[in-house]
Amino acid sequence: MMDQSQSFHDLVRRRQSVRQFLAQPLEATQIKAVLEDAQRAPSNCNTQPWHVHVVSGATRASLTQVLIEQAEKASYSPDFSWDETAFPGRLDERRRAQGKAYYEALGIAREDKAGRHEAILRNLDFFGAPHAAFLFMPSVGDGVRVAADIGMYAQTFLLSLTARGYAGIPQTLLGLFADPIREHLGIPDEMKLLFGISFGYADPTALSVAPMPRAAIGDSSVMHV
Ligand SMILES: Cc1cc2nc3c(=O)[nH]c(=O)nc-3n(C[C@H](O)[C@H](O)[C@H](O)COP(=O)(O)O)c2cc1C
Repeated sequence: MMDQSQSFHDLVRRRQSVRQFLAQPLEATQIKAVLEDAQRAPSNCNTQPWHVHVVSGATRASLTQVLIEQAEKASYSPDFSWDETAFPGRLDERRRAQGKAYYEALGIAREDKAGRHEAILRNLDFFGAPHAAFLFMPSVGDGVRVAADIGMYAQTFLLSLTARGYAGIPQTLLGLFADPIREHLGIPDEMKLLFGISFGYADPTALSVAPMPRAAIGDSSVMHV
């Protein structure tokens, strides 16, 4: 493999969702460099429909309190539906395997409701990350094509974090609290929240988690000749 493809091969595999961060913040210039990289993401007709709100410091601290209060009241306001029991067949098998690996890594037993609740609260505390980026999008048609652009943006953002020695995790869970996040950050109702990305420096003392497995390419792609 040539050098460039080797480094991409390594980068894409080095990126992993991190769920334990150091409190040490990034500099504003470091965050801006990641935003510049993510801005290079492709989008339908180059519309660049992402609106990204990054929280740090006091705003991050007060927002976490709001999210935890909402979660305690089971007050959810997702802009887009989320039903994790709706995945068909093999997708559901993979979802279950991910959940099992996740809770095992956290040492939480299946029947441990309090432990599971605690894991949700850790999501809402951004897993200790000093920063979170909220990915908003305008409402256009059924939203699917704009959401695809946001996905492009998110992966570019995550790979940039990894390439620069930082880490992140995309979180649908943050998107379940769209109303209080909009209110807290002064964002108009027309902007819809898809998900958030917590980011910062990975905590090197965290228990190492094995990379999540991927299906063989033959399970998801067909070569027509
Ligand atoms: C759009 C999106 C939303 C996600 N939401 C959450 C979440 O709310 N909480 C969480 O712990 N992980 C979340 N994840 C992380 C996935 O569980 C993770 O990407 C998957 O298991 C593959 O692992 P990897 O990212 O380490 O390769 C999300 C991932 C994506 C792409």
